[in-house]
Amino acid sequence: MRSPKDFFRPLAVGAPAPVREVPFRPSRMIHFFDPGNEKMAAKVPAIAPTVDVLLGNLEDAVAADRKEAARAGLVRTAKETDFGDTQLWTRVNSLDSPWALDDLITLVTEIGDKLDVIMVPKVEGAQDIHYVDRLLAQLEAKAGVTRPILVHAILETATGVANVEQIAGASPRMQGISLGPADLAASRRMKTTRVGGGHPGYLVREDPHADEVAPRATFQQDLWHYTIARMVDACAAHGILPYYGPFGDIKDTTACEDQFRNAFLLGCVGAWSLHPVQIDIAKRVFSPAPADVAWARKVIAAMGDGTGAVMIDGKMQDDATYKQCQVVASLADALAA
Ligand code: GLV
Ligand code: MG
Repeated sequence: MRSPKDFFRPLAVGAPAPVREVPFRPSRMIHFFDPGNEKMAAKVPAIAPTVDVLLGNLEDAVAADRKEAARAGLVRTAKETDFGDTQLWTRVNSLDSPWALDDLITLVTEIGDKLDVIMVPKVEGAQDIHYVDRLLAQLEAKAGVTRPILVHAILETATGVANVEQIAGASPRMQGISLGPADLAASRRMKTTRVGGGHPGYLVREDPHADEVAPRATFQQDLWHYTIARMVDACAAHGILPYYGPFGDIKDTTACEDQFRNAFLLGCVGAWSLHPVQIDIAKRVFSPAPADVAWARKVIAAMGDGTGAVMIDGKMQDDATYKQCQVVASLADALAA
């Protein structure tokens, strides 16, 4: 089965590079489109070669009376399009909706051979993944789909966050988890009204005595730090991939890039793109910077078998920095392959 698990396998000193059963497939941006929107669907063949993942969205943002049209549009688009190396994913409706069962039955039987990953929203625990896993096994067998379809969970309820470790390890089909900040904010009763990103009111203020002369500085904090870090740990522990989800303020490309970069630095491998302008941002952010890759290679070369300590440009390097540098260099290699 294709699996990102080996990508996260801790590298033992002196061990050969991890062997993957199938090649690593980049997923820096998961580009959403509405398959029921004919204008958008018509652009799919042109957009496909520019993204790592194309996702036909059937859930939120598709109105209730357009669910069937979106599902039919995805089947049509998948049948008519050659996606090349680009992965095709879908986001089905949530398991407590009237549409999820028909989404799964129709998509697997009609286009199961073209679908790489099914994103399941509002996952609350391992039981949701077990249900999808069993259903997929039956439908794949019925439709003669021989390549297992992988499963991606959206972390967007407080209960889901509480159960994130069990979700990450619920099935060998698990490919990854995305943070869904908009639904999660509502579920937690946060007081935001945005799709991801920060809030100017969530800040820390300098102590009143920090500087008796200058005005007290304030710094905006990251609303999503805790959840991303928790999700990354759960994913790393189970060998699957973590992602930041949507950033809704399309015009604010600076804040989008900041949010994506925070997620990248914390361990995420990609984010959703909701508009073509976010594709390049994700590509840039989730590809290690050439200077960082060059530094990582310099440390790896200087460290020999990866044990001991060396000084490079005044900085101490040891077994642990060697491993960090391997993460950066191996990601660069995988993306270049
Ligand atoms: C995504 O689905 C979100 O709720 O942020
Ligand atoms: Mg959501």
